[in-house]
Amino acid sequence: MTATTSFKSLAFVFVLGFGSVAPTTAVADDTPLAEQMDELSGSLKRLRRAESVDEKVELIKKAQEAVIKGLQYLPAGFEKIEDAKKKAVMTAGYKKLTGQSYVLLCELEEAVLAEDEAKYDEVYLKIKEIKKEGHQAYKAEED
Ligand code: HEM
Repeated sequence: MTATTSFKSLAFVFVLGFGSVAPTTAVADDTPLAEQMDELSGSLKRLRRAESVDEKVELIKKAQEAVIKGLQYLPAGFEKIEDAKKKAVMTAGYKKLTGQSYVLLCELEEAVLAEDEAKYDEVYLKIKEIKKEGHQAYKAEED
């Protein structure tokens, strides 16, 4: 291996490492909401390896439960919003997006039960999009 290729491999590993390690934040990684987000994320990750319909449905139910529990908290970043009207608007938006996430998880459950893989992929993509939207709008630091 030449010096150039080993440098390239090192850079590649570095980039990959950053992609997966960077998410933790000083602000919002230890809140009750973050705990539910971790539950949600863990259930969705396990879903990829699940094989039977029953196993998949169980994991989706766990994800749904985490979303519902998360609704009783507000994002950590909201504490810094002093303007009451702005906070009310942000709170309504947060609840709306959380509700939409729940609906998508119910659609995912329906797709699993119907064993409709195309629908499953379509809904899963929407869940990834809503995660991105939710984090861009309400997470205190970058994903
Ligand atoms: C649907 C898929 C989603 C997944 C898999 C997901 C996953 C995660 C993960 C892993 C964290 C970091 C938790 C930690 O640091 O320990 C997080 C944090 C966070 N997520 Fe999500 N998320 C999703 C959707 C959403 C949506 C839709 C919203 C907003 C409506 C949202 C708002 C937040 C906020 C605000 C935090 C920071 C925690 C806090 O402020 O207390 N997430 N999420």
